[in-house]
Amino acid sequence: MIVARSRAELNTALDGAPRPIGVVPTMGALHEGHLALIRRARAENATALVTIFVNPTQFLPHEDFSRYPRPIERDLALCEQSAVDIVFTPPVEEMYPPGFATTVVVQGPSRRWEGEHRPGHFNGVATVVARLLNLTRADRAYFGEKDYQQLQVVRRLVADLALPVDIVSCETVRDPDGLALSSRNVYLSEEQREQALALSRALRTAAGLAEAGERDIPTLEAAMREVVERAGLEIDYLVVVDPETLEPLQRLEGAARALGAVRLGTVRLIDNLPIPPPRPTVPSPTLESPTRVSS
Ligand code: PAJ
Repeated sequence: MIVARSRAELNTALDGAPRPIGVVPTMGALHEGHLALIRRARAENATALVTIFVNPTQFLPHEDFSRYPRPIERDLALCEQSAVDIVFTPPVEEMYPPGFATTVVVQGPSRRWEGEHRPGHFNGVATVVARLLNLTRADRAYFGEKDYQQLQVVRRLVADLALPVDIVSCETVRDPDGLALSSRNVYLSEEQREQALALSRALRTAAGLAEAGERDIPTLEAAMREVVERAGLEIDYLVVVDPETLEPLQRLEGAARALGAVRLGTVRLIDNLPIPPPRPTVPSPTLESPTRVSS
């Protein structure tokens, strides 16, 4: 495994690398969620490349940039065990060299939810992802559904700038009790971890009600809020939206996505689940009089 810390080292590693190149962008503190993306990139590409970079431009001034976990030796060992070929882990100056003056702004799917609660966050994500995809010469890039809005923003970015890369998405990996794995879960006390389960429980409640035939979105949203409030969590948003545009919906007519963000003290968690489209109503069988067949 080659560990490249500069663009020059990365270019040297890439010059001998067979295609296709599958890239997994991360901020490190790797867990099973990241490893699922890495395993898939490994299986589907001739070269598997992981980037580890805690991107300062996607953190707001009051957020956890400086305390974000950075267990780099452990991360490198996990990449090595997963048969990764190249890890790109640059210092900030390699990603934002002197004179850097460009920001990529994706509108549309960035506008609401995380975009409202973390203004500027998706500009930082879009800018760093565009640069990472170019630097790594990615043929395919792997993103988790865990950050569902980010996934839609990246899809929009790649389509709009005609970046020559396929975006592959992977399902959210959860602990057996339902909590979505996140590098930020290390901030939770045992008691907060228990409380945090209400977020995935609320999303499952909405999916269950939809499955049972409920089509009224405000009803689904009220049911989610009740679960989360009962557990004492503060809600940033808890909504059922269009799965592509992420715009609010009033009635469930096709597939949708439940999205939520909650706060427990200083810790903020996000999660989401697919909401199944309503089943077509089956017409009741007409009772026909049996045809007499004469023998
Ligand atoms: P990070 O939070 O490290 O996540 C890296 C990738 O792992 C993202 O695509 C994320 O959706 C995925 N991921 C995280 N937890 C997951 C889980 N439980 N199941 C499945 N996938 C999971 O997202 C970022 O970093 C950054 O914003 C980045 C894209 C690297 C840009 O800086």
